[in-house]
Amino acid sequence: MQALGVDIGGSGIKGAVVDIQTGEFAVKRLRIPTPSPATADAVVDTVAQLVSEFGWKGPLGIGYPGVVKESVVFTAANLDKSLVGFDLGNAVKTKTGLPQVAILNDADAAGFAEIRLGEGAGVKGVVIMVTVGTGIGVALFNNGVLLPNLEIGHIEFHGEDAESLLSEPSRKKKKLSRKRWNQRFDKYLRYLEGLFWPDLFIVVGGGIKKQDKLESVFSTRTPVKFARFKNQAGIIGAAIAASENMVIR
Ligand code: BGC
Repeated sequence: MQALGVDIGGSGIKGAVVDIQTGEFAVKRLRIPTPSPATADAVVDTVAQLVSEFGWKGPLGIGYPGVVKESVVFTAANLDKSLVGFDLGNAVKTKTGLPQVAILNDADAAGFAEIRLGEGAGVKGVVIMVTVGTGIGVALFNNGVLLPNLEIGHIEFHGEDAESLLSEPSRKKKKLSRKRWNQRFDKYLRYLEGLFWPDLFIVVGGGIKKQDKLESVFSTRTPVKFARFKNQAGIIGAAIAASENMVIR
């Protein structure tokens, strides 16, 4: 089975037709820059543009960078505030005429890709996925079951919003070396570890590179793995959610 997965990010809105059994892309990924300002209407138009560029008529899944319940958006940390309170799922459904549209938090989507098909597949206990980009996304699964909209990328950390110390824009703005950023991120993982006692961390983005030996980068008790699907996990997880007609409450 195939589904179209769309990942709404702070700088780009990306989509691909995904083979749900393997996570592979059946058609090359497309990316459209996130409209600025990223108002509710502009975001709907961009998602609809992606759908029409793929000529897609099947299930559509959307990963959104904020809190989503049912199809309504509750936060917009890095997008226009007109999205707050907006029924994005139904607006996309109306605009595209697609029969099946699922929408969920982007980190939760990325987590689904890894839990079902990637590094978290078959792992028992608590798995925490952390995505580092324009924002810090965190998804938590217990025995494969998601606790949605965790939002602990905004937890207070060293007296500040963790995201403002760890996001990609802040790493670049403060010209932090990878080593220095990794040290900060290590402290953040250790903080999460003390709160949630996970069995596995899956990480992607920021200063972390796939070839790094993560056990020498991070000092956590919990093993840390690099996401198998890298930055495409969000697209793949959104497609999985679409194929299951998932509704997050
Ligand atoms: C948002 C999260 C999102 C993360 C990654 C944060 O600013 O609050 O909901 O998962 O960015 O996009």
